[in-house]
Amino acid sequence: MISRSYNYVEYCRETAANLKTLHDLALRGEGKEEITAAICQRIIEEVGLRPDDDLVEIGCGDGTLLRLAAKVGVRSALGFLATEQEVALVRAAGLNVQQAFTDRLPVTDASASVVVCNNVLLIVPRERVPLSLREMHRVARPGARIFVGEIPFLPGPPLEPEFENSWQTLAYLYRKYGLRTSLGMARRMAYWKVSGKPMVIRDGSQISFHATTDEFLALARDAGLTPVRHWRHEHWDTRNDFLFTKAAV
Ligand SMILES: C[S@@+](CC[C@H](N)C(=O)[O-])C[C@H]1O[C@@H](n2cnc3c(N)ncnc32)[C@H](O)[C@@H]1O
Repeated sequence: MISRSYNYVEYCRETAANLKTLHDLALRGEGKEEITAAICQRIIEEVGLRPDDDLVEIGCGDGTLLRLAAKVGVRSALGFLATEQEVALVRAAGLNVQQAFTDRLPVTDASASVVVCNNVLLIVPRERVPLSLREMHRVARPGARIFVGEIPFLPGPPLEPEFENSWQTLAYLYRKYGLRTSLGMARRMAYWKVSGKPMVIRDGSQISFHATTDEFLALARDAGLTPVRHWRHEHWDTRNDFLFTKAAV
């Protein structure tokens, strides 16, 4: 019997456990390093990152943005990841990262001049998004720039079909995603059989949170954030990027 888990944190943990390259942690798929780099470079430009900045990145993936920030020569750069498994890998690459969830950041009030949270809220359970935005506001200094990117304004694609049987599952994965994905799943299935562990497929394709532009702006204002501008994402035409500030008191 194959069961499914739509828990995205478990999906991040499993990605870290089965990773081929560090970029897998960006969860954009194989061969998308250049897209991740271009997206992070655009974020650096949108927030106008400078050497006197203290950057907090929530959900820092493979650390691409943190590496670009080091090139800018920021005063400090701290990244958060959902699981200790991801933290171990990104820390081994020399970056300053810790485990934390979007709605509970181990950061003192008003300590960041720039807060970035890109391609993360869409996988956070909807009920935790308002508190996550309040956390961004709390850790930001008055006058800080807060970038929140890749917020879908439409629901995600339909759920993957479920199969009772391993062969059907593998054939489907091969047809839809190719050899690497189906071989990866075959390896995990073999491990589950040999170890006697239950077969749990972690579904990483499900969007938990989406909001229209107006809905998201209203959520952000409720959290205390002041909108600066927003625009359609250049790679995903169903997502918006937002730049906010925290009003000076
Ligand atoms: C899709 S990746 C995006 C990585 C990077 N921001 C980028 O744009 O390339 C999602 C990231 O969010 C983190 N994440 C997932 N759920 C989270 C949560 N509830 N709280 C904090 N981080 C989370 C994961 O550890 C992962 O680094």
